[in-house]
Amino acid sequence: MKKRVFSGIRPSGDLHIGNYLGAIKQWVGLQDDHEVVFGIMDLHAITTPHDPEKFRRNTLETAMVYLAAGLDPAKTTLMVQSRVPAHAELAWILGTMTPLGELERMTQFKEKSRELGTKGGIMAGLLNYPILMAADILLYQADAVPVGEDQAQHVELARSLAERFNNRYGKAFTLPQAMLQKDTARIMALDDPPKKMSKSDENARGYILLTDSPDAIREKIKAAVTDSEKKIAFAPEEKPAISNLLVIFSEFSGRPIPELERSYAGKGYAEFKADLAEAVIAGLAPLQERFRELETDTDSVFAVLRGGSERAAAVANKTLA
Ligand code: AMP
Ligand code: TRP
Repeated sequence: MKKRVFSGIRPSGDLHIGNYLGAIKQWVGLQDDHEVVFGIMDLHAITTPHDPEKFRRNTLETAMVYLAAGLDPAKTTLMVQSRVPAHAELAWILGTMTPLGELERMTQFKEKSRELGTKGGIMAGLLNYPILMAADILLYQADAVPVGEDQAQHVELARSLAERFNNRYGKAFTLPQAMLQKDTARIMALDDPPKKMSKSDENARGYILLTDSPDAIREKIKAAVTDSEKKIAFAPEEKPAISNLLVIFSEFSGRPIPELERSYAGKGYAEFKADLAEAVIAGLAPLQERFRELETDTDSVFAVLRGGSERAAAVANKTLA
């Protein structure tokens, strides 16, 4: 039997190459030999400040990125979380068996509440976020959840909630596991390599958006922080900045990191960065082209989401029942 896979992204604004390399790119490779459902997690996105005007547009754009990146609606179920009420319903049930302390200990909650505490308050929805995420995963009986490293802790919680539920009420859920892509599970910010690349970053120089123009990409890579010693070598501990750039270069060019190290031995950062920028631009070009095509036909994108959400609801409702 094919393994079942579920994952999703919050439509909270523009997606960056960290989202692509850490998550979406591996999803595309899974759709042929797995049963896959990918969601646009709008109920999660409203746990942090957002602009209601832009919100609808963000859902559409996220769907367009999914399709432009190569997710094929004939093989993949693309759904919108709020269209499938079973998610919220199962989250309620799971919430009755989640100790408060486990939620308060979640790294993402601690980070986000530190940020938001100064900006006007932390909502209960932010604390309960991981419960809803567990419901997302368990409703589809997912075996594997391909995400970046920052989400692994949440998948762990989903697994322990499934275990707890199965023990108490009888086996209802498959136990899920995070599926991490070793090299790309944590793409770092270009302007501050100890931090992960994030769209909530104040500084747009920290991330490259999937929709950034070639000139913007060149500029951001040119400005990217490098390490003190001039050597181009992969050593994430000692040289976090250049190692991050090597990972990005390798992913977009398809050239292995050791080969890149050899071909830039003795060369300067300027030349390396110029070539890296061209590799990213070329790597994103097909995606950007499809994205622009989809922009002229948003009705068909909404139709994909409607169909996918209906299919997803049928599976989710069966589990919930
Ligand atoms: P988010 O934008 O937080 O909804 O994340 C969507 C997906 O992208 C999740 O699977 C994250 O783990 C992944 N992701 C986000 N930022 C990064 C990053 N800097 N490196 C690798 N993966 C990431
Ligand atoms: N919390 C995830 C993130 O920020 C998004 C998400 C919501 C998700 N529900 C999920 C990811 C279920 C995987 C499975 O990236």
